[in-house]
Amino acid sequence: MERVTLTQILNHEVTQKFVKRSGLAHAVAVSEYAFKLAKVHNVNPDLAVKAAFLHDVGHYTWYRNGQWDYNLYKENDIHAIKGAERAHKLLIRLGEHPVNAKKIALAVLLHTDSYLPEGELQLDPLQHVVALADKKDEEPGGNHHYKTISDEEAEARLEKLDRLVEEAVEAEKEDTALAQSASVS
Ligand SMILES: [Fe+2]
Ligand SMILES: [Fe+2]
Repeated sequence: MERVTLTQILNHEVTQKFVKRSGLAHAVAVSEYAFKLAKVHNVNPDLAVKAAFLHDVGHYTWYRNGQWDYNLYKENDIHAIKGAERAHKLLIRLGEHPVNAKKIALAVLLHTDSYLPEGELQLDPLQHVVALADKKDEEPGGNHHYKTISDEEAEARLEKLDRLVEEAVEAEKEDTALAQSASVS
């Protein structure tokens, strides 16, 4: 099965509409952080970068009288729930393996606990990496959602990440093959 790439995800109309709404620059930056953190936490980099890129795809704009209204947002926001569903549908349409699509959707669902009742969430390593990567790019007052990036720069940075992910996946396969041949001989 061919890997679904970040650039394929970027160029899908759902991404163009909804990731741009919550901030393409933020999504790209969080994917880059997630790639680095995936190495440290021994998480599949492919899943980490995709979940990170799509983590805010469920955002809705909460306006009152033409102005962004933070209280309205806080009261009504379910962007992680909406995003999990949207990311899942988009990935399945692009041909992602259903097991991976589910893991990515769960990491999107749990990247924030701001919409959940009080309590402790037990995150698995992938979910933890995506939540951490999001925090790393956070700016006061939600300013990270308003950073700008050109389409060309976003595509170039995601292409680079795609290459890095594919190299990491290949290296992992070689390591596994080596370990297997060593255990046979
Ligand atoms: Fe978020
Ligand atoms: Fe975010």
